[in-house]
Amino acid sequence: MTATPAPPAPRPLAGGGVEELREVIARNLLTARERTRLLTESVDDTDLVRQHSPLMSPLVWDLAHIANQEELWLLRNVGGREPMHPEIDPLYDAFEHPRAERPTLPLLPPAEARAYAHEVRGRVMDLLESARFSGAPLLADGFAYGMVAQHEQQHDETMLITHQLRRGTAALTAAPPGPPPPDALRQPREVLVAGGVFTMGTSTEPWSLDNERPAHQVVVPSFYLDAAPVSNAAYQEFIAAGGYDDPRWWTRQGWDHRQRAGLTAPLYWRREGTGWIRDRFGVTEPVPPAEPVMHVSWFEADAYARWAGRRLPTEAEWEKAARFDPATGRSRRFPWGDEDPSADRANLGQQYLQPAPVGSYPEGAAPCGARQLIGDVWEWTSSDFLPYPGFRAWPYREYSEVFFGPQYKVMRGGSFAVAPVACRGTFRNWDYPIRRQIFAGFRTARDGGLEDGAPGAGAAGATMGRPGEE
Ligand SMILES: [Fe+2]
Repeated sequence: MTATPAPPAPRPLAGGGVEELREVIARNLLTARERTRLLTESVDDTDLVRQHSPLMSPLVWDLAHIANQEELWLLRNVGGREPMHPEIDPLYDAFEHPRAERPTLPLLPPAEARAYAHEVRGRVMDLLESARFSGAPLLADGFAYGMVAQHEQQHDETMLITHQLRRGTAALTAAPPGPPPPDALRQPREVLVAGGVFTMGTSTEPWSLDNERPAHQVVVPSFYLDAAPVSNAAYQEFIAAGGYDDPRWWTRQGWDHRQRAGLTAPLYWRREGTGWIRDRFGVTEPVPPAEPVMHVSWFEADAYARWAGRRLPTEAEWEKAARFDPATGRSRRFPWGDEDPSADRANLGQQYLQPAPVGSYPEGAAPCGARQLIGDVWEWTSSDFLPYPGFRAWPYREYSEVFFGPQYKVMRGGSFAVAPVACRGTFRNWDYPIRRQIFAGFRTARDGGLEDGAPGAGAAGATMGRPGEE
């Protein structure tokens, strides 16, 4: 184990001064609101108040909930203002009413929800003009504003999931991402991540959430990781090989669920002739072979990996592959370095409404050589959602603490639907292992490789085939 203490990652937001931070906040709030507006104005009021799936809220609930949380955290907690409409608070408390129950509540109708969101935002912008970013912990580095911007963007992803579940003609359109770069097919199938200690989590990233904290040292033995997420073509091999009918590849719980739910393919896929078609945002199309597979549960991802003679990576393995720089011994904010995401490095922000082909984004590659760790699809890991050593709930227990436990599996890296502000090398997402409506795929791993510190450790290049893929 090479236990050189890694220096902390830089704090990009804090370095630029108060006025720059004010601008960063304003820009992130505005970007989130533009997206919210598109997602809630691209359907009519009937669609806005309808529940498209018992798994999701009506879109109009998300809209007023976004505004209610913004009012609560920024106007009341930070600004010390009186509640604007205290009687509606319980309606928009996510812990008081589960999603299935929300359509039965006396929710604000669309016009009132929009007016409420607009009024809250106007007052928040006034508050921001004279805001100070020191003193109370909620104010430091503009944390409360960053949390609110991330919260709205997370609901924008949730609302995009609702759009995907919605039936009817297409409401949203976007250009597809470009073809993969010419070297995508020459990429190694897997990359080696050398064993040793690395810094997981963060104590310095200003807008990181409580579950990403604190930074701590973790020893990760050498392992191989897929250089890109598993593709639809590879996943179809699993289906064609009878993967859904063979209990050998499934955990007992996974097999029970597969039987009960009648799973035979990813969500939204249908057979047509000898091939597969799928529905996406109101459009039916052949399943694109080069795209990362999406809308598979953790149980399906885990079964695929076992069939392929591999396994899902642990959360620590994923983060080490995404952040560790063997040249400096330091963990980066992102696979490519410490700079914020850009359009040439990662597919984020609902720009394309779909993941890019596997092997895309060479500019966003990690030091180990793996691509697309950030953006495109959330990646299931084998790990349960648990607190890091030294975890402290902040700013409220319901953000993460009440979810810790083996019932949830961790996903990493963000999807095409996630905004840059809500995506980092340390960011952790979680869900039940049966969930398929989320924009999640996966990549696989296997043990082995060179011993820690051996010559060549950290080099990319070893490859290993998968059944039916060569
Ligand atoms: Fe929320």
